[in-house]
Amino acid sequence: MKVMTVIGARPQFIKACMLSKLFHNDSKIKEILVHTGQHYDSNMSDIFFKQLQIPKPNYHLGVGSDSHGKQTGKMLIEIENIILTEKPDIVLVYGDTNSTLAGSLAASKLNIPIAHVESGLRSFNKKMPEELNRLLTDHLSTWLFCPTEEAIKNLKCEGIEKGVYLTGDIMYDATLHYRDIALNHSDILSQLKLSPGDYYLATIHRAENTDNLNKLQALLMALGELDKSVVLPLHPRTKNKIEFWNLKKFLSPSNIKVIEPLDYFDMLALESTAEIILTDSGGVQKEAYMLEVPCITLRDETEWTETVQAGWNTLVNSLDYNTILKSVSDVRVPSTHPSLFGDGETAKKIYNILLTYKS
Ligand code: UD1
Ligand code: UDP
Repeated sequence: MKVMTVIGARPQFIKACMLSKLFHNDSKIKEILVHTGQHYDSNMSDIFFKQLQIPKPNYHLGVGSDSHGKQTGKMLIEIENIILTEKPDIVLVYGDTNSTLAGSLAASKLNIPIAHVESGLRSFNKKMPEELNRLLTDHLSTWLFCPTEEAIKNLKCEGIEKGVYLTGDIMYDATLHYRDIALNHSDILSQLKLSPGDYYLATIHRAENTDNLNKLQALLMALGELDKSVVLPLHPRTKNKIEFWNLKKFLSPSNIKVIEPLDYFDMLALESTAEIILTDSGGVQKEAYMLEVPCITLRDETEWTETVQAGWNTLVNSLDYNTILKSVSDVRVPSTHPSLFGDGETAKKIYNILLTYKS
């Protein structure tokens, strides 16, 4: 059987690594790996292939950055050509980026069944490009691999019950597999002169924060007012917007340590011993929970509502400077930590389900 995987953005390399290893080590399913080139800086792409030993993509489309329509359109044209050449039995996509949507649209028009990993997530905010990408992909998919019960409920509310599987979260597989390796391998704490448990880690890249001057300014101001060092690995989108909005001065407080995007091991190491993580990232919210670090989510809503219900995650509108500061001082580590993301065997479950497919 031939599975064609379409990936293109940082979180997708991390999501894909465990399943790609299974495909690579077993001859029953041959994986054709397509990298759209949505992310292309070496610290947003190549570093993950090297570190996580993801096979070299069979196709690299090199689409780069553009408006949503142009970027997705370029991918669509190229992916259609590859599907026609490779004739895969299944097209596999992860998450909710433009690369996800391009892969699923191209496949559905050619009647190739789609497997969607991280299916059923909803923010219920259609202004988010990711919400449109995941809604459309779910409605086109044959296999909907859900990380949580909540995701299954969301699909049911939209009338999708066939082909839905509760597999757990594939990022949990990677976190469990690499956590100790990362802690042994990384010297990021000493590089940054930080002590475990005595700093905050922040990531910002969500368009609703970066593309709004008032929000981005309030958020950076709040980070500068915090009582501890804040490590801020800067996503290129955010870096560009800080320059565009002329907000560089808000990065000057001495507690803010602005650094380049990190590789996965350094990121896991920094996440593991942060006192609190502040983020608008989906993946980082989950990893905070998996690593038992309290999280403040700099958004109005989250797809990962279970982490909020469990008391480990707090939502804060990033425009509200005072609420961010108060949320940090209000953080208490909950006494319980329910299992939310499965058993770390998600890749194997997905693999075994796909293996039963007869085209
Ligand atoms: C994309 C995904 C988002 C995901 C995020 C993960 C969509 C719509 N958004 O957002 O869901 O959470 O990836 O990080 O698919 N840039 C570079 N170098 C790179 C990549 C991007 O400089 O290697 C800059 C470019 O200026 C680009 C901007 O970042 O215009 C945004 O990149 P893009 O891939 O369009 O969206 P992200 O914000 O990264
Ligand atoms: N990540 C990383 N280096 C960084 C920031 C994030 O390796 O500097 C990892 C993080 O550990 C998680 C994934 O990237 O596994 C999350 O990706 P991102 O925040 O870009 O996207 P999202 O999850 O919001 O779609």
